[in-house]
Amino acid sequence: MRIVAENLSFTYNKKSKFKVDALAGVTLTIEEDSFFGIIGHTGSGKSTFIQHLNGLIPVEKGSLTVGDINLADKSKIVKKRYKELRSKVGMVFQYPEYQLFAETVYEDVAFGFRNFFPDASKEEEKKAVFQTLALMGLGAEYINQSPLDLSGGQKRRVAIAGVLVTKPEILVLDEPVAGLDPVGKNELMKTLRVLLDNGVVKTVIVVSHDMDEVCENCDSVAVFSEGRVVLSGSPKEVFKNSKEMSELRLGVPVTGYLKDELSKMGVEIDVDFTRDDFVEKVVEYYKNIK
Ligand SMILES: Nc1ncnc2c1ncn2[C@@H]1O[C@H](COP(=O)(O)OP(=O)(O)OP(=O)(O)O)[C@@H](O)[C@H]1O
Ligand SMILES: [Mg+2]
Repeated sequence: MRIVAENLSFTYNKKSKFKVDALAGVTLTIEEDSFFGIIGHTGSGKSTFIQHLNGLIPVEKGSLTVGDINLADKSKIVKKRYKELRSKVGMVFQYPEYQLFAETVYEDVAFGFRNFFPDASKEEEKKAVFQTLALMGLGAEYINQSPLDLSGGQKRRVAIAGVLVTKPEILVLDEPVAGLDPVGKNELMKTLRVLLDNGVVKTVIVVSHDMDEVCENCDSVAVFSEGRVVLSGSPKEVFKNSKEMSELRLGVPVTGYLKDELSKMGVEIDVDFTRDDFVEKVVEYYKNIK
């Protein structure tokens, strides 16, 4: 399902003196089969935007279509399709592990499944829970553990499994790697990539402040600033704008800083900013000098 937003705007507390224009005309297309990164400084509207995708925040102004569902259309027919929308767009909020509540990992994940598939048999439930936990890198040994006894990263994987078990087509995650150590960040992003590459989900959308992880894993990136998309494209197209990115109070991947430093020394290399490509291009450059 393709997502197309055109001039999408949203204001919180519209009628009060505390009103905030959170989205001020977002125009953006997210293709199916893509790992899409949304970046932007704090308060730029990222969370507000993604909450539109499954109808949590209604379209107020502008247009938004998710697949063939036109969310700007407020007719009864479209309202009826909200259930379908919620089942197709799985939303993982920031720090989802805070919402784990059951006594065991199994129960926590099964809760999500039962909500969406109330008529499924116990066997089907068991199969779905085990399979989903395995997809999130958690083996059967975790099934009967209390979520409270797991590490932060494992808890987060259980929480994501609780959404994934509902079999969404589009998985949206608000800052999935926030607060994880560098290895944990990398592993979680790679797990999401595998979900996409193996067709478990058709689209992954992540909001992230981690430029390195976005660059390494995303196919496309949109940069939000003051409720608008100010830069978008492949990570290469976006991160080559290191000056604009720093003006937006955002950084670039570490390879971007290194490229700029090399450039000051007169060494120009054309990289896509992934670590592997960077190393390859630098080695190539020095081999050619010899
Ligand atoms: N429930 C709310 N009520 C009022 N204002 C809100 C609400 N949620 C967000 N805002 C405001 O809307 C603007 C956009 O917020 P949003 O949470 O979408 O930003 P964000 O890009 O996700 O930021 P962060 O990186 O800090 O998570 C901010 O100015 C914020 O203060
Ligand atoms: Mg946010």
